[in-house]
Amino acid sequence: MKRFLLPLIFFAATAVQANEAAAPAKADPEKGKAVAATICVACHAADGNSMIPANPKLAGQHADYIVKQLQNFKSGARPNPVMMGMASALSDDDMRNVAAWFASQTQKGDQAKNRDTVEFGQKLYRGGNLAKGLPACSGCHGPAGAGIPAQYPRIGGQYADYLEAQLKAFREAGTNPQPVNGRANDPNKMMRTVAAKMTDYEIKAVADYVAGLR
Ligand code: HEC
Ligand code: HEC
Repeated sequence: MKRFLLPLIFFAATAVQANEAAAPAKADPEKGKAVAATICVACHAADGNSMIPANPKLAGQHADYIVKQLQNFKSGARPNPVMMGMASALSDDDMRNVAAWFASQTQKGDQAKNRDTVEFGQKLYRGGNLAKGLPACSGCHGPAGAGIPAQYPRIGGQYADYLEAQLKAFREAGTNPQPVNGRANDPNKMMRTVAAKMTDYEIKAVADYVAGLR
């Protein structure tokens, strides 16, 4: 029996080694923390719970989504002069490390502020609008806005102003043949198709509701 086991163990060990050499290094949240605390801290806070509504919270966001956005900023696929500068300074490893750090932090959440529209916002979020062919947000972002890794970002608890700005940027890119400040980095035009069907009132209401979602 022993004679068979030894070569088997040896084979298993070399197979593991070969696998490790092929895959990229595992993301290191501690290295990412150092990047967050020296560079990102100015706008997103070191733990990713930014203080200003124009700067999105990154705490608790899915790592793959963060990496994708950083790559999109770097390439210009998601145009933003500030974040293009930030992302261009990061290597692929830096991106994966800083994404792992922010993903591991707890998002502090927010509250819906408009009592008059919160019910309408909830209705849109959970059920969409069948008459307009507007799908429910919850279908892709989850019932509590936590998203579904890797493709669908967490939006629950995000600042309403930021959510509103992004929905309008998707709508601009989805409706204007020559978009100004549009956002067109969504796979398969998923968000452009959704936002193109929304009025300002609907966008505001759903953004306010989602800010309070947890
Ligand atoms: C000078 C301010 C500033 C700094 C510093 C900064 N950011 Fe940003 N970041 C922003 C702003 C503003 C946005 C929103 C851009 C938009 O409106 O599209 C943003 C957006 C992002 C997003 C997209 C989030 C989402 O929900 O889609 C990611 C990811 C991000 N930043 C990561 C980082 C990382 C990582 C660092 C540090 C290496 C960093 N940022 C440094 C201002 C900053
Ligand atoms: C068919 C799936 C789908 C549906 C339905 C959907 N979304 Fe999205 N949403 C996405 C994907 C995918 C992204 C990420 C795009 C990217 O990679 O940049 C996204 C991104 C977003 C963002 C940007 C998040 C950020 O941090 O920048 C917001 C805001 C958003 N969605 C809001 C909504 C709202 C509100 C609804 C309902 C009215 C909705 N979405 C419905 C798939 C969907």
